Amino acid sequence: MMKATVVFMQSINQWQADEYDNKLAFVSGYGKNLISWLQPRKGEYILDLGCGTGDLTYEISRSQAEVVGMDSSADMICRAREKFPDIEFIEGDGHQFETSKRYDAVFSNAALHWMRSPHLVVDSIWNSLKPGGRFVAEFGGKGNVQIIVDALEEVFERHTGIRASERNPWYFPTIGQYSHLLEQCGFLVRQAYHYDRPTRLVDGEQGIEGWLAHFGGDYFEGLAQEKIQEICRETSKIALPKLWKEDAIYADYKRLRIEAVKPGIEIIK
Ligand code: BEZ
Repeated sequence: MMKATVVFMQSINQWQADEYDNKLAFVSGYGKNLISWLQPRKGEYILDLGCGTGDLTYEISRSQAEVVGMDSSADMICRAREKFPDIEFIEGDGHQFETSKRYDAVFSNAALHWMRSPHLVVDSIWNSLKPGGRFVAEFGGKGNVQIIVDALEEVFERHTGIRASERNPWYFPTIGQYSHLLEQCGFLVRQAYHYDRPTRLVDGEQGIEGWLAHFGGDYFEGLAQEKIQEICRETSKIALPKLWKEDAIYADYKRLRIEAVKPGIEIIK
């Protein structure tokens, strides 16, 4: 098999729009199905939180809803504006965004697991919604990519002596944990679904190294490139036999999909 070149990110979570649109296109591909839970309607005002390069924002806009895409990465927003000049895209942080005009719905695909203070995110979403507004999201649920994370953390600790779990950048809650958070804020949880979604990685046998190069940057802060590559190679050696199916690596993705509503009568908090 041809070996793909795995390029490691130079800085932490420096999202690269090119990679996102090419090797990571599956992210928005899978997300299209989530729009069936949103059911956007003509004239609605909708936020796509963590929109990346805007593919799903565009899909939502086809319903003739007025949709705004928000992402914390300037690079992603820049690319989204180039691709979809008729749609509004803004740079913003899910932990602390505000809006002058409240939304009928907030939508989010594959973004909330990067936001480490979920109660702040849920508060921001609540404040940005009209009474009666809905929140539809999908992101990594409990146990997501556990085989990769376990292997990485074991190898990382052996190589560095640093407690790897302290660098884990992700939030993968259970249905119960996330529903509780939403209910504490005042939301009514309508539907919640936790499911396995094995996800085929590109780059053949180098898929895990490629995945870590894109997503694992927080673990590697301050380490030399050679050390990072060594850790990734060893991680792959452990995880690959557990994830290889027939012709490719299928990462052990687990999704949490949720729909909640802000009750119709305004509750002053
Ligand atoms: C996810 O979509 O589940 C995911 C993506 C990158 C890092 C961790 C999880």
